[in-house]
Amino acid sequence: MIPRPVHSSAPGKVILFGEHAVVYGEPAVAVPVTEVEARASVVPAQMGRGLTLVASDLGESFALNRAPEGEPLALAARLTLDFLGVSPPDATLTVRSTIPIASGLGSGAAVSTALVRALAHFFGQALEPAEVSTLVYEVEKIHHGTPSGIDNTVIAYERPVYFVHGVPSGPVPLSVGAPFSLLIGDTGLPSPTRRLVSSVRARREQDRTECDAILKRIGSIARRGRRAVEAGQVRRLGPLMTENHRLLVELGVSSSALDALVDAAREAGALGSKLSGAGQGGNMLALIPPSAGGRVERALRDAGAVRVIRTAVG
Ligand code: MEV
Repeated sequence: MIPRPVHSSAPGKVILFGEHAVVYGEPAVAVPVTEVEARASVVPAQMGRGLTLVASDLGESFALNRAPEGEPLALAARLTLDFLGVSPPDATLTVRSTIPIASGLGSGAAVSTALVRALAHFFGQALEPAEVSTLVYEVEKIHHGTPSGIDNTVIAYERPVYFVHGVPSGPVPLSVGAPFSLLIGDTGLPSPTRRLVSSVRARREQDRTECDAILKRIGSIARRGRRAVEAGQVRRLGPLMTENHRLLVELGVSSSALDALVDAAREAGALGSKLSGAGQGGNMLALIPPSAGGRVERALRDAGAVRVIRTAVG
């Protein structure tokens, strides 16, 4: 077989319900966001050159065989090559992404997913979503420490999922009973997942009873959110999102910048709003009725959003 250039992509994601609680075994609901994406290409190189990895957004380029152990792109490439049972090809593997880094939109998992798919594709193989997700989960551990696995799952399956960490049967793909629209507002501030997951853990060690009560209430919202998504009861989603945000505030992972966007969206007519992802910075979500989309978007920008993405679910 003569190797040919190949290209793959992977979407971003948002968590509708259940972030943080999902790390402690509660369910969460997440959906892919196709308006942003990571891309990877593999182009054959001269014989004997080995595999070169290029992170074009960061202006970085290095040979796989010289990359340090914990370098995420190199780890994703090595895991994929091991899984396929092949040696590194003579090729250049380039990744780029329109997903803002450390913003709660799954940039790390999307870059790894695009890379894994492109490398498999280069060897003429299309991996199953579960296989891609398992490989990417290993890389996520470098980014996040103790990830629940929701980011790699929703991005590798590329569909809305109801996810519970560690369930052997895997995620439940959600059928969306009626489509709905979200605005995703970016604070422009970093959302350091590893640090925020650690801060929730520290808080839980200090006050297990109170913290577990909050996490359980978030889990119950995710279960109700799943039912509302499947039943097409869009109007029920808004209050659940807002209640989920209130519990995340109690958990200590929101910030004045996120609260300002969350409040501004509701005041402008959103049916509900919440932070999405690890919190502190990053993005928030607003559920919008078709009539109020423009007004909510303007309100988000006036309240400090550096970017607003509109996405449809279902
Ligand atoms: C990050 O997108 C979501 C968190 O719940 C962490 C995780 O699930 O691994 C904060």
